[in-house]
Amino acid sequence: MFKNTIIKKINEDDPLADISVISEAAKIIKNGGLVAFPTETVYGLGANGFNPEAVKKIFLAKGRPQDNPLILHISEFEMINQIARDLPDAAFALAKAFWPGPLTLILNKKASVPYETSSGLETVAVRFPENKTARLLIEKSETPIAAPSANLSGRPSPTRASHVEFDLSGKIDMIIDGGCCKHGIESTIADLTGDIPVILRPGSITPEMIREITGKCIVSEPHDTETPKAPGMKYTHYSPQAMVTIVTGSADAAADTINKLIQKNSGMKTGIMATEETMGMYSKNALILCAGSRSDPETIGRNLFKLLRKFDYYGIEQVYAEGLTEIGVAASVMNRLKKAAGYDIIDARCHLDGDIDTK
Ligand code: TXA
Ligand code: MG
Repeated sequence: MFKNTIIKKINEDDPLADISVISEAAKIIKNGGLVAFPTETVYGLGANGFNPEAVKKIFLAKGRPQDNPLILHISEFEMINQIARDLPDAAFALAKAFWPGPLTLILNKKASVPYETSSGLETVAVRFPENKTARLLIEKSETPIAAPSANLSGRPSPTRASHVEFDLSGKIDMIIDGGCCKHGIESTIADLTGDIPVILRPGSITPEMIREITGKCIVSEPHDTETPKAPGMKYTHYSPQAMVTIVTGSADAAADTINKLIQKNSGMKTGIMATEETMGMYSKNALILCAGSRSDPETIGRNLFKLLRKFDYYGIEQVYAEGLTEIGVAASVMNRLKKAAGYDIIDARCHLDGDIDTK
């Protein structure tokens, strides 16, 4: 059913100045509707997390598989008691260190959380976002807000309102335009239901940062179990229309390899996800977009999904993206890029002097 999607801008630094926009959005949430809103990671598609009928609409609008549970967003720490039980010490310690912020905790759920939200699980994902608009919306809606990323399932997560509009206009009630997202990749997910915290999805809060608080933590590898603990991790993610190939290695080696690959593939509409360090190194017969600096992976995280969408906009068929050395936040950025590429990765060091095999 087609909906007239309301789009309203908000003063992102001072959302209280646009309180009428928040009130309008909160009314929609209270009435069981869907509102897309900015967070510091990516835009979320929100509904009343306690209302099964409202939550079902999220799955319908996104085309999201039913077995992929939603994160509940809260606007103050105490709200956690409405949805989770038996909080371990690590939950208090991690919340103290990183909330509000880009960290989601998996905890045992209370009966109040409908199985529509948790996709039948006895656990619940809880996040206390830093973004002021998000918090004000939750507060005014007077309920935890269930919100996945506000993209069509399988598409890159939205980091600005126009991305949400492109994917979901006509399917949801309202989009709050709060500008660009600060981090640009989704929150770190830490499962606290076992003895040792397990990172199910890497993000801006790194394993090193978590270990500093909890002592130990395990990073779950995407392919290391048959049934991933974060059900969403088994689905195709962040896929642009174009094929994406990652080329790892130093700036010089990656640029050289990508130039050779483009020569071989001439005839294809090609894009390059370059970095500040390599922008001048490419031949001009490709759409060259700069993701940020290799020395500042946070900026690359901020731009990644936007660039993937931009390549689609220009009808690019093959994207070559420079890989980053996987440490700290760069490892989280690479986690998203590898999924976008379907794990198609070329090591520039192995191909510099030799011939390059292309599929
Ligand atoms: O940054 C974020 O986390 C954004 C913003 C909007 O807050 N949200 C987000 O939601 O990325 P979504 O639905 O796109 O990703 C949530 C992930 C999915 O992989 C899902 O399977 C996992 O969290 N998840 C949710 N509840 C879970 C649970 N109880 N146990 C394990 N994984 C869970
Ligand atoms: Mg998502």
